[in-house]
Amino acid sequence: MSETATLEIDGKKYELPLITGTENEIAIDIKTLRGVTGGVTTIDPGYKNTGSCESAITFLNGEEGILRYRGYSIEELAEKADFLEVAYLLIFGELPTAAELEKFHSDIKAESHVDEDVKKILDGFPKAAHPMGVLSCLTSALVAFNPNTVNVDSEEEMYRAIVKIMGKFPVLTAWAHRKRAGLPLDYGDNSLGYVENFHKMMFHRPNDEYSVDKKIVNAIDKLLILHADHEQNCSTSTVRIVGSSHAGLFVSISAGISALWGPLHGGANQAVIEMLEAIKEDDGDTKKYMAKAKDKEDPFRLMGFGHRVYKNFDPRAKIIKVAADDVLDSLGIDDPVLNIAKGLEKEALEDQYFVDRKLYPNVDFYSGIIYRALGIPVEMFTPMFALGRLPGWIAQWKEMRQRKEPIGRPRQVYIGETQRAFKQIGDR
Ligand code: SDX
Repeated sequence: MSETATLEIDGKKYELPLITGTENEIAIDIKTLRGVTGGVTTIDPGYKNTGSCESAITFLNGEEGILRYRGYSIEELAEKADFLEVAYLLIFGELPTAAELEKFHSDIKAESHVDEDVKKILDGFPKAAHPMGVLSCLTSALVAFNPNTVNVDSEEEMYRAIVKIMGKFPVLTAWAHRKRAGLPLDYGDNSLGYVENFHKMMFHRPNDEYSVDKKIVNAIDKLLILHADHEQNCSTSTVRIVGSSHAGLFVSISAGISALWGPLHGGANQAVIEMLEAIKEDDGDTKKYMAKAKDKEDPFRLMGFGHRVYKNFDPRAKIIKVAADDVLDSLGIDDPVLNIAKGLEKEALEDQYFVDRKLYPNVDFYSGIIYRALGIPVEMFTPMFALGRLPGWIAQWKEMRQRKEPIGRPRQVYIGETQRAFKQIGDR
């Protein structure tokens, strides 16, 4: 493999270094491009061909449908690990020992209280406010109650900030749900596991004994693992670029929540269920919706299908599809929407439009069916995605700051008016 790429502009040649990652991905290093060419830059809307950073956290291969967190396959982690172990792995780089995991969980529990004044902020929202907007606001508001900036070079200060957000975020997520449900804003039980405590915070009733089927906790735990990180996706890139200005961890995550909310990104899991419900109401006419998805004049897209990177099955979708069957079977739920989803998937996988564009089900296609079976309201589907993605956002922000990456500031190609003289208002 040559060390450089050769670029020729107007007969002049420029050698640009090639870098190769540990999985043999090759990139042209254009850090010096503008300087050596006297001002030539690149343009790549949506960054489809442009890497923003070197990262050691998550590797994915879209052509082969491979996803690994710190070298461990998503299939193994989803089967053998729990969410807090995976969070530790993503953030600190190694699977924790039993003692490390115990301390991590204990430190998170010690930081899981949220200032009572945060409830006053929540009171200001209308009951019907979408929980993603509430969650982004409350996450940003955490800074008001934790104003000290974090010295990212201090492992202790960095660790404190991490356990704080890992402890408080599940509370804020549950409170966003409880506000809509008209339930008191209180806590779970720190004697429970991280995910079971979150489930209790979401659903316990003040005048009922709390109990939960472990199958439900395990299903949520697995879903959170599957959503934990995904290299430089839209919301993670948002967390990185906001953090690159040296804005704090909490506000960077708040920005990531807002990016995730979009229906082309994390908001797709809510949009998938709404689409499947619409098809069910339309006599299950999947062919009509397939036609709409292919009609360039129609803005409708088959939600939960397609991916910027996966041009093969999203490995997470495969795992979630099996889990959906298992969860619904074990809970004795027969959800007609699952059958519509399977029918839609089969049709799309045999349809030339989808085959030509390599459009496969993604992580969002089946996840909503499980969330619904677990009693999670549809507006809470994307907050569930955010809860899962939290450790990934933390890990990526930490890596970006500790590698001392420069502030993110892309260039552009100007296509507007060239210089012109000012016109007095009477002359316009
Ligand atoms: C997530 O990046 C990540 O890693 C994200 C994520 C993560 O874990 O962080 O994996 C989570 O966001 C998953 C994606 C969830 N979004 C959806 O399910 C929304 C529906 N899918 C899309 O809108 C679309 O597929 C995207 C946004 C996911 C990807 O869009 P791209 O890469 O910009 O691709 P594109 O829009 O250029 O599409 C290429 C072609 C186009 O047709 P042509 O112009 O070539 O004729 O495929 C078509 C598109 O019109 N197409 C679809 C389609 N997705 C793409 N046509 C119909 N239905 C779809 N869903």
